[in-house]
Amino acid sequence: LTCERYPVRRLPFSTVSEEDLATFERIIPRRVITDPEELEASNVDWLRTMRGCSKVLLKPRTSEEVSHILRYCHERNLAVNTQGGNTGLVGGSVPVFDEIILSTALMNQVVSFQDISGILVCQAGCILEELSQYVEERDFIMPLDLGAKGSCHIGGNLATNAGGLRFLRYGSLRGTVLGLEVVLADGTVLNCLTSLRKDNTGYDLKQLFIGSEGTLGVITAVSILCPPKPRAVNVAFLGCPGFAEVLQTFSTCKRMLGEILSAYEFMDAECMQLVRHHLHLTSPVQESQFYVLVETSGSRVEHDAEKLSSFLEHALASGLVTDGTLATDQGKIKMLWALRERITEALTRDGYVYKYDISLPVDRLYDLVTDLRARLGPQAKHVVGYGHLGDGNLHLNVTAEAFSPSLLGDLEPYVYEWTAGQRGSVSAEHGVGFKKQSVLGYSKPPEALRLMQQLKTLLDPKGILNPYKTLPTRA
Ligand code: FAD
Ligand code: MLT
Ligand code: ZN
Repeated sequence: LTCERYPVRRLPFSTVSEEDLATFERIIPRRVITDPEELEASNVDWLRTMRGCSKVLLKPRTSEEVSHILRYCHERNLAVNTQGGNTGLVGGSVPVFDEIILSTALMNQVVSFQDISGILVCQAGCILEELSQYVEERDFIMPLDLGAKGSCHIGGNLATNAGGLRFLRYGSLRGTVLGLEVVLADGTVLNCLTSLRKDNTGYDLKQLFIGSEGTLGVITAVSILCPPKPRAVNVAFLGCPGFAEVLQTFSTCKRMLGEILSAYEFMDAECMQLVRHHLHLTSPVQESQFYVLVETSGSRVEHDAEKLSSFLEHALASGLVTDGTLATDQGKIKMLWALRERITEALTRDGYVYKYDISLPVDRLYDLVTDLRARLGPQAKHVVGYGHLGDGNLHLNVTAEAFSPSLLGDLEPYVYEWTAGQRGSVSAEHGVGFKKQSVLGYSKPPEALRLMQQLKTLLDPKGILNPYKTLPTRA
């Protein structure tokens, strides 16, 4: 298991005692879980590559309860791992040792929704897909969407600053989140839960917590701006003969589709093989080297259809695209999206997965995949590239029958050095968690890392919040 592969020492936190359990029971009666079977799911991450050995899972319902719990843990020097839907991909969501797991699962209430502005205020444990349904019934959509929507919590999305499938259109959560409520390590409730579009009253403190992966505070509630539900949504799934054509098609899309382009995702032929083999999904287009999913979202059906068909005509006539299919109805749209969204799942069925999530200049995006195929040879089962091409975000994944230190040695630091050579980011959207903490230096200068450490010390002087994660571990 990962803890053994990446050795770290337990820091001198207290160990949960019977008296601690009794105190938790007083704060949140019948929501203190110590049953090993129930704890198992929260101790193991989604990829099943990390396992903690926490003995207690706490399920508060309110921010006041979170505040009481943290105040107590702070006094007692007990380490805490906040957990949302446990779909994180960098080992940040599960304990490394015996940290208390603080789950937001029962903090799942919508507080308010303003139907003129589209501003949603809700608790951090709301499941993304449920929020999507809630706002869609009111003719809005969530500004983010991702393959883990059925399980991930909005608080977890904020804590990881998740990107996902709507980033190209609606941008980062750093723009769409208007306010946050956060409980700090010592139990202080920081209520910055405003719903203002403009607010320049000094430092924008909420930004500190977005992407902080549970290391600076526990996000308990969020105010988020939802866009109106588009009247017309179209999805085109296209086959491209090479990566140069994938890039050229992107460029053409931006010019010809303009403001209605809402997603540009790509996957290579090996990804298609994997979803076919492991999930029995079939390609809707002729076999190609690359596949592209283009989504448009607009306000007039005829206008969008006209734009999309002239784009397709051009792309086919010029040879950028060799085959394509179009969807306007919900069922087929979902089916086409599943080909892209379910690659993650297909990969985990293929064997042990080495996962990299990298930002690169778009014209060099696929070179790393090609380089690695040659470098790794038959050691790897599959070397695949897919991702949010429109955002310059490559998901590079390598599978093997089982974890192998020699394969890891061929991958790292090579992948990180290659990325740094392009001034790319070693974590585009998944975060740092437990798995990437030692590689931040490839994308951030020492001065930035020092300032991050100073902020951590300021906000969490005892280091009880999600220890061993995100920042290089303190001695
Ligand atoms: P968890 O996994 O429970 O936690 C993640 C981190 O956030 C941990 O460090 C945890 O301590 C912290 N945390 C959780 N809740 C809180 C809180 N309330 N306050 C403070 N800290 C908290 N990511 C993308 O960016 N784009 C994608 O397209 C994408 N697709 C995915 C598809 C699949 C199939 C899967 C399994 C994952 C995908 N992810 C993607 C990873 C992504 O990070 C998570 O899915 C999601 O954002 C995490 O939410 P969660 O509630 O599951 O958080
Ligand atoms: C995706 O875009 O599919 C997600 O980020 C998950 C992954 O990288 O596998
Ligand atoms: Zn992604």
